[in-house]
Parts: sequence; C-alpha cells; structure tokens
Amino acid sequence: METALIALLLASLAPGAWCAVTRQARSLRFLPVVSATIVLSCFLLMTSYMSAGEAKVPAKAKPQVEPVRKKLVAPKNWPDGHPLPIVGSNCAACHLTAGRELTAAVTNFVRSVHDINEMTCYDCHGGNSRDDVKAHEGEFGFIGTKKSAHIQGCSECHSEEAELLASGPHHWDFTTRINTEYPLCFDCHGNHDIGNPPADFKLAAMCGDCHDKPQKDFPNIAAVVNENDKLWGTLRKVHKKNIANTENPVPPRFRKDVDSLRTDTMQIIHSAMEISSATASSLNGRAEKLRLGLENWLQSTK
Ligand code: HEC
Ligand code: HEC
Ligand code: HEC
Ligand code: HEC
Ligand code: HEC
Repeated sequence: METALIALLLASLAPGAWCAVTRQARSLRFLPVVSATIVLSCFLLMTSYMSAGEAKVPAKAKPQVEPVRKKLVAPKNWPDGHPLPIVGSNCAACHLTAGRELTAAVTNFVRSVHDINEMTCYDCHGGNSRDDVKAHEGEFGFIGTKKSAHIQGCSECHSEEAELLASGPHHWDFTTRINTEYPLCFDCHGNHDIGNPPADFKLAAMCGDCHDKPQKDFPNIAAVVNENDKLWGTLRKVHKKNIANTENPVPPRFRKDVDSLRTDTMQIIHSAMEISSATASSLNGRAEKLRLGLENWLQSTK
C-alpha cells in the first residue's frame, strides 16, 4: 500500500511520464487522455497491479522517444491463417521479411503472452525503435542474444517469480556468468513463444536433462510437472483454436482457475523444494478438473 501511495504522489508530479514509464506495455492507449484521467488510471492500474503479482515494467525498458508504428505485411511464405503481431514496431516490420531464424522469431512471437500484452521486440531486446539503421546499436540499449542480459530483463519485469527462483536450489547469479548446469528462464519458458509453447515441448523432459531420477528424488514435484504437461497439452489446443484472438485465448469462465493454478504451480517449481504428496494431489486434482473442463469446451465448440 505504501508503494501505491508513493506511486500516486509521483503520478501527481509527472502524470504522463510516470504512467508511460511504469506501464510501458499497455500505457500507449492512455496517451491521448487528459492528465487528470491519466493520474486516476495510473493509480487504479498500480493498485490492481500490485495485488495481482503481475509483471512490473521497469523504467529501463522504456524507449526514450515515441516509437514508430508500421503497417505489418505478411511475407509470401507466411503460414496460412497465422495472424501478424499486434504491435507494428520497426523491428517486427523488418524481421517479417528478413528470412529464416530472423523471421521465425516473429512467427513464434505471435500470440505469445507478451504479444497479447502488446509488447514487441525491443521490450526484451532493446534497440532503436525509430531508426532502422541504428536498430541494433548498443547505444540504444540493444542486448542482442546475450543471455545474462535477457535474464536480467525477465527478472526485472517478473521480480517476484525471479526472487522465488533465487530462493531455491536452482539459484545462480547469471549476471556474473552463464552456467548451463542451472536452468535459465527460457529453458523452461521458451523465448518468443512464452505462453504458447510448441507441441513437442515437455517440461518433464527438461527436468530430465539434468536430473537422472526425478521420480525417485522428488516424486511429488515430478507428479506436478507431469500433470502440468498434460494441462499444457490441452491449453495448446485451446490457444490454437483461439489464435486470432488479441486477448487472453483462454475462454473467460476458465481464466481465474488457470491463473491461480499457474501461480501455485510456479511457486512449487520455482522454489524447487519437495512438497508433500497431499499438496501434490490437491494441485493435480485442480489441474485435472480444469483440463477435463477445457477438453469439454473444445468438443462443444467444434
Ligand atoms: C531494416 C531491417 C531490420 C530492423 C529494422 C531490425 N532488424 Fe534485427 N536483424 C536484421 C537482420 C538482417 C539481422 C541479421 C544480421 C545482423 O545481425 O545484423 C538482424 C538480427 C537481429 C537479432 C539477432 C542478433 C544476433 O546477434 O544474432 C536480433 C535479436 C534482432 N535483430 C532484434 C531486432 C530488434 C529488437 C529490432 C528493433 C529495435 C530490430 N532487430 C530491427 C534486420 C532488422
Ligand atoms: C520475452 C522476451 C523477448 C521478446 C519479446 C522477443 N525476444 Fe527475441 N530473443 C529473446 C531471447 C531470450 C533470445 C535468446 C535466446 C537464447 O539464446 O536462448 C532471443 C533471440 C532472438 C534472435 C536470435 C535467433 C533466435 O531465435 O534465437 C532473434 C533474431 C530475435 N530474438 C528477434 C526477435 C524479434 C524480431 C522479436 C519481435 C517479434 C523478438 N525477438 C522478441 C527474447 C525475446
Ligand atoms: C518489459 C517487461 C517484460 C519483460 C522484459 C518480460 N516480460 Fe514476461 N510478461 C510481461 C507482461 C506485462 C506479462 C503479462 C502480464 C502478466 O501476466 O504478468 C508477462 C507475462 C509473462 C508470463 C506469463 C504470466 C501469465 O500470467 O500468463 C511468463 C511465463 C513470462 N512473462 C516470462 C518471461 C520471461 C521468461 C522473460 C524473459 C525472456 C520475460 N517474461 C520478459 C512483461 C515482461
Ligand atoms: C540445467 C539443469 C537443470 C534443470 C533443467 C533442472 N534442474 Fe533441478 N537442479 C539443478 C541443480 C544444479 C540443482 C542443485 C543441486 C545441488 O545443489 O546439489 C537442482 C536441484 C533441484 C532440486 C533440489 C533437490 C535435489 O534433488 O537436488 C529439485 C527438487 C529440482 N532441482 C527440481 C527440478 C525440476 C522439477 C526441474 C524441471 C522443472 C528441474 N529441477 C530442472 C539443475 C537443473
Ligand atoms: C525449472 C523450470 C523453470 C525455470 C528455470 C523458470 N520457470 Fe517460471 N515457471 C515454471 C513453471 C512450471 C511455471 C508454472 C506453469 C506455467 O505458468 O507455465 C512458471 C511460471 C512462471 C510465471 C507465471 C506466474 C503466474 O503467476 O502465472 C512467470 C511470470 C515466470 N514463471 C517467470 C520466470 C522467470 C522470469 C524465470 C527466470 C528468472 C523463470 N520463470 C524460470 C518453470 C520455470
């Protein structure tokens, strides 16, 4: 609550700037609104935000000048029925036609959780959001593919989740050096397709890369991981069906349960400390119920 009050204070000092800085990903739509409304919206956003444990967008990620917007045009070999990214940044516009892995980044980014939240390439990679010639220059905060810098970026926006990870056995200070013996955020989450992973992704296989006998060493966490993989198998089908949606692809009546289940699962997996079999069964019971509900929904909306 104190933070919210400080936010209000700051908001009343420099409303436009504060709003833009704190809520870069979604704030653009507020820009034309008069400043009184901005102060109020900011305050409401900040307070609802703080309670939900959602991502906080750090000041650093904010481009210094208003970014350009371009009309995105699908290249010839763009997959049939696949939508374009929501935000027409200069990065997305050029990468759409750049080819191979340069375009695959865009294809995979489409309808990821960050696309749906109106973020774009430079929100993670930095770079010049106006001048194509200077797009990749370090001077404009471009970090390219440097993993340690990316992990720092993920962790600034998702500080609560990162702190939980840092509290457990998977903690490694990636700002010093990358150590492949510890799992990175994108090992488990992907990079461009976060929230919309490919069909062949299995978290259990990920754990198996480093742990010989998860079933024996931490059977209850392993059971949660398996049930989570099953749920994502279904969520992927739901996402595929709703891929044209520019908002949460999960049907409204399931959203609350999906969100709370993911938060609870995150707490267990990020802290990586063995849980009781009762905790695992109760969580898995919720996951199974949700999965069956979503499967029914899929069947009934042919
Ligand atoms: C005018 C076209 C164009 C624009 C605009 C553009 N890119 Fe690129 N990008 C490329 C090309 C071509 C490459 C591969 C050659 C290179 O590395 O310069 C590339 C490479 C990259 C890479 C991989 C670098 C590496 O080290 O492997 C990333 C990441 C990237 N761009 C992100 C961005 C971001 C973020 C923006 C917007 C701020 C952006 N690009 C704007 C054309 C563009
Ligand atoms: C959520 C953060 C995030 C966003 C948003 C994002 N990227 Fe990336 N991108 C990454 C990370 C992390 C890597 C490096 C991953 C690694 O090395 O494992 C990467 C790697 C790349 C690469 C190198 C080739 C590859 O796929 O590994 C290119 C090119 C690239 N990104 C372009 C883009 C473009 C274009 C966009 C916008 C459509 C974009 N990225 C949006 C996080 C992001
Ligand atoms: C500039 C801020 C920013 C950066 C950088 C960023 N994210 Fe996000 N992320 C968001 C926002 C905003 C959301 C959507 C709101 C939410 O659910 O928290 C989100 C959502 C997510 C979610 C899904 C949460 C959910 O409730 O569905 C995951 C997982 C995630 N991000 C992981 C990552 C990872 C991993 C990286 C680094 C490769 C990263 N993010 C980089 C802002 C960011
Ligand atoms: C890139 C390698 C890597 C991956 C992938 C990985 N871990 Fe770990 N894990 C480690 C390391 C390193 C430790 C710390 C071992 C130590 O301190 O002795 C660890 C420790 C643990 C521990 C503490 C108990 C123990 O047996 O050491 C648990 C529980 C755990 N991991 C669960 C998981 C789960 C679940 C997954 C998949 C979601 C996973 N790990 C994925 C490397 C990994
Ligand atoms: C060992 C695997 C693993 C690693 C490493 C990992 N995560 Fe997660 N994370 C998960 C799982 C599993 C979930 C819960 C299921 C889901 O949302 O996919 C989750 C959930 C999340 C969520 C959503 C939380 C919510 O309440 O919905 C965010 C945000 C997130 N992780 C960010 C990160 C960031 C940032 C990093 C790196 C600092 C990271 N994760 C590293 C496995 C991992």
